[in-house]
Amino acid sequence: MSSLANKRILLGISGGIAAYKSADLVRRLKERGADVRVVMTAGAQEFIKPLTFQALSGHPVHTDLLDPAAEAAMGHIELAKWAELILIAPASAQVLAKLAGGMADDLLSTLCLASEATLALAPAMNQAMWRHPATAANVDTLQARNTLIWGPAAGSQACGDVGPGRMLEPEALVAEVESLLQPRADLRGKHFAITAGPTRESLDPVRYLTNHSSGKMGFALAAAARRAGAEVTLIAGPVNLPTPAGVKRVDVVDAREMQEAAERAADLCDVFIAAAAVADFRPERIAQEKIKKSDGSDRDTLALVKNPDIVAGIAARNERRPFTVGFAAETEKVLEHAAGKLSRKKLDMIIANDVSEADSGFNSERNRVTVLDPSGRTELPQSLKTALAEQLIGMIAAQAFSQ
Ligand code: C5P
Repeated sequence: MSSLANKRILLGISGGIAAYKSADLVRRLKERGADVRVVMTAGAQEFIKPLTFQALSGHPVHTDLLDPAAEAAMGHIELAKWAELILIAPASAQVLAKLAGGMADDLLSTLCLASEATLALAPAMNQAMWRHPATAANVDTLQARNTLIWGPAAGSQACGDVGPGRMLEPEALVAEVESLLQPRADLRGKHFAITAGPTRESLDPVRYLTNHSSGKMGFALAAAARRAGAEVTLIAGPVNLPTPAGVKRVDVVDAREMQEAAERAADLCDVFIAAAAVADFRPERIAQEKIKKSDGSDRDTLALVKNPDIVAGIAARNERRPFTVGFAAETEKVLEHAAGKLSRKKLDMIIANDVSEADSGFNSERNRVTVLDPSGRTELPQSLKTALAEQLIGMIAAQAFSQ
């Protein structure tokens, strides 16, 4: 897959145990067609040898600012101009401090200062160093200058600590690079409304019915549509996710609230995407007080009533009908059920996935889907939801705005 064909990526590697993961990162970027040149700091060379990166990138590794041989081959200013993306992975606390301060005392920091390329950093450091106010201030300074900060992830660290500071995995970094550098649809002037997450249907003041939806797919779609320039309204059920930059978020709790917000947003949108896992039923009555165990009985019955089908209502509109996309999360006969929903709900497109698969679907970072529309179907390989969202937005844009 040559998603990064001929993209010129300068990979900076600074000192940290995560430097070993950068070898895999180079391999994955090369596999996607990128031209990768590697710069290593002195600290990085304590962890891993330049020869490894020379072999993987197919080019000599740059290590010194004042090396006459390297300067003769491709001088540092030339290298700074050559890059369209400078990615530093791992980026140590020292690198963040140097770049925030505009220093140029080694090759990598000099290149960053001399280059007009997009700069992305994948921080990797001990959790206390990441949390330190000095590092936080450096990150703020860098972000204010449009430097991209990818990660860090939280988890167990090489030093034995647990917390934020792990470098993002190479696969996630490649997905970030792809979403940054891949040509994407131009959705400026278009309005997307997207539902995401579960709904929560109250039973009494303390209990509710819900499902395992994390909202990740809907949030990733909102971020991707926004990156492509669309105005995005994200109607979110109860989830624990940050709002993607530039997206208008409307928080809702139950299906009827979601329907109200969705109908309102659909009046103004060109594309409506229903990524939410809406509860099909809700309790017939919400008890005012906590429901008590009925004495002496081992059984009880819950009376449920059907919730409105939000996406079907919008797809059935005669006026102000947006291009309408649904999701079908199935555990069996995936394509058959999805095709049924596509025609029954009168959708323009449905995205089907098997939520019974391990490491795919609900609550996972990844998904494998098949896209169905009335003219046929396209299977997409399993990938991170962020990368998949980018692809799906491209496919939706191509269909919704073709002619
Ligand atoms: O739950 P079901 O499999 O029918 O969901 C298919 C599609 O319909 C999804 O896009 C979901 O967001 C949407 N839906 C909805 N309102 C419901 C049920 C589902 O918008 N009450």
